[in-house]
Amino acid sequence: MSVAQELKQTIDIADVISDYVPLLKSGRNFKAICPFHQEKTPSFYVFTDRQSWHCFGTCGTGGDVLSFIMKKEGLEFGGALELLATRSGFRLAEKRKADDKAQSPDKGLFDLLDAAASYYLALLNGSSGRKAMEYVEGRGINSWAMEAFRIGYSPPEWDGAKRHLIAKGFNEDQLLLAGLLVQGEKGVYDRFRDRLMFPIRDRNGAVVGFGARSLDGSQPKYLNSPQTPLFDKSSILYGLDLARDAIRSRGVAVVVEGYMDVVTAHQYGQHNVIASMGTAVTEKQLSQMKGLTKRVALALDPDAAGQMASLRAIGVAAESMDKKTLPVPGSKGVITYKRVTEGEITVVALPDGKDPDDLIREDVTKWEKLIESGLPVVDFLLANIANRVDLTDRRSKHEAVAEAIPFIAEIPSPISQAHYLQRLAELVHVDERELRDELRSLSRGRGGAGRTRGEPEVHLEKARGIAPMEEYILALLIQNPKLKSFDLQLKYEYFTVTENRETFRAWQMAETLDEFFINLEPSLHENVDRLANRHIPVIGPTDLSKAINDSIKRMEERKLRETKADLRLLIQDIENSEGANYIWKMSAAFGASGEVSETLERLTALQDKEIEVNNRLMYLLSKGEVLQP
Ligand code: UTP
Ligand code: MN
Repeated sequence: MSVAQELKQTIDIADVISDYVPLLKSGRNFKAICPFHQEKTPSFYVFTDRQSWHCFGTCGTGGDVLSFIMKKEGLEFGGALELLATRSGFRLAEKRKADDKAQSPDKGLFDLLDAAASYYLALLNGSSGRKAMEYVEGRGINSWAMEAFRIGYSPPEWDGAKRHLIAKGFNEDQLLLAGLLVQGEKGVYDRFRDRLMFPIRDRNGAVVGFGARSLDGSQPKYLNSPQTPLFDKSSILYGLDLARDAIRSRGVAVVVEGYMDVVTAHQYGQHNVIASMGTAVTEKQLSQMKGLTKRVALALDPDAAGQMASLRAIGVAAESMDKKTLPVPGSKGVITYKRVTEGEITVVALPDGKDPDDLIREDVTKWEKLIESGLPVVDFLLANIANRVDLTDRRSKHEAVAEAIPFIAEIPSPISQAHYLQRLAELVHVDERELRDELRSLSRGRGGAGRTRGEPEVHLEKARGIAPMEEYILALLIQNPKLKSFDLQLKYEYFTVTENRETFRAWQMAETLDEFFINLEPSLHENVDRLANRHIPVIGPTDLSKAINDSIKRMEERKLRETKADLRLLIQDIENSEGANYIWKMSAAFGASGEVSETLERLTALQDKEIEVNNRLMYLLSKGEVLQP
């Protein structure tokens, strides 16, 4: 999740806007005198479901909470983001390090998790943590590592953390939200009890969650924080905050599975080691490494099934790292964007039954050599298959092909795809043409290269929660330099999410895609980085124009539908209200004047707008180019 998205999740738009203008309840939504233009009756609306605002009066504009702040405070996107972050007690990564004394009554989740980590740490070093301390020392973790990773201990009581943190000024809701408390039938209680605590930090060092190891063999071995506004396990890499410099200087990031493995690695000077925390590496995790290195070495558990599952995921991720855009820190701390042609992911299977933890303790040099011996994902897979395939058995050969083809299908470059197909053919002694047919049928079946037009967005819409159409269109624009020369019927107002809107604006202003990347405002880097690396099925030149134009039409359609629904709501609001009924009758009897006429005018204007929107919608639908939702 981007900072802007995270921020929007933690705040309510009505809450923010009500700081600027009094809001009146109107059904589920709110209305107000528009803060942007002179008016007597409210035509400014705040829609709580969509967390958006719209002025149906003279302004005729709308957007999300960030565009509101930009307009109201006259700020750029970055400034608005910062202001909103400060206001809601949510801190932008750079501003995170705060002194403990400055704790205001409005303490945020970051402070809470930080305080929790300090609490657990104190307990590990106190008398109640003696048993846990013996365990840690028994595992050979030294005091440097304990401190660097802020390892702690959670007390066995049901409310130890709760009492401590509430005494520190946090409230129960915050503790629940941060995942430190669990809601039981009889009340709340501490989630983490009698466990060794590993604070999980984001790449900037802010504590966002915990991994908690049981000390008595009870299950689960590790209890982790649930998904919270700050903690998304699938996008965090454990240890990345400490590993950043080493990853950059050594030019490679080593991904292992466990907390313990990372702690030991760093203790033994392997500072470029990070952990995926037991699950297959995700694209989101890999994207955390952008700007640090494009080389990633995965040290995988030798269990074959798990390995294949993770490799499959990586296949996709590797593609996403492949041809895209990376931020590169330049002189004076200015970040520029650079098109890179290859991200390199290598895989090492660890010797059976050994964790990186064990291997590093045994022999660091051997560990380093082992990591260097990794093979690119598909090579690794083929080597792995070569070890197992029985060339005398048809079925075994068939299985090998079935296993390898999906990976080969994921390879973005046709040249390397052909290369690997040939190698597979040699490996299993099968005619290459046969394999090519198989590959083709797979692409069709999965909706790959043979995908029919109009389909990709539907597919992607489900995968993403937030404004999928906007993101899809922007990703197309950012990933295809050719689109700069297309005449696109795409309007700034179609975008509802401010960072997307601003990204589009910047794209529109730039002469070329390169110029867009170079001149990009730093606060938009995160969004653009994400979009640039978003996986989009490869589209040929004719399909590209089709894909973009279809998407733009659909986006307009979505926008029109939304506006139509909003207008209906407002018209009903006016028609239903007592005052309006009265006004109607009076004006019918005596002719309208003054305030009455203003309301009438507004109503008529809204009705006209409704007709206009409806006409445009009918037109789009009649052209048959827009799919029904
Ligand atoms: P491991 O079982 O290999 O744990 O799981 P470990 O880190 O090596 O720990 P030790 O050495 O046994 O103490 C690897 C990772 O998988 C996740 C954790 O992130 C763990 O570090 N995991 C494992 C869980 O999240 N929950 C579990 O119950 C087990
Ligand atoms: Mn281990």
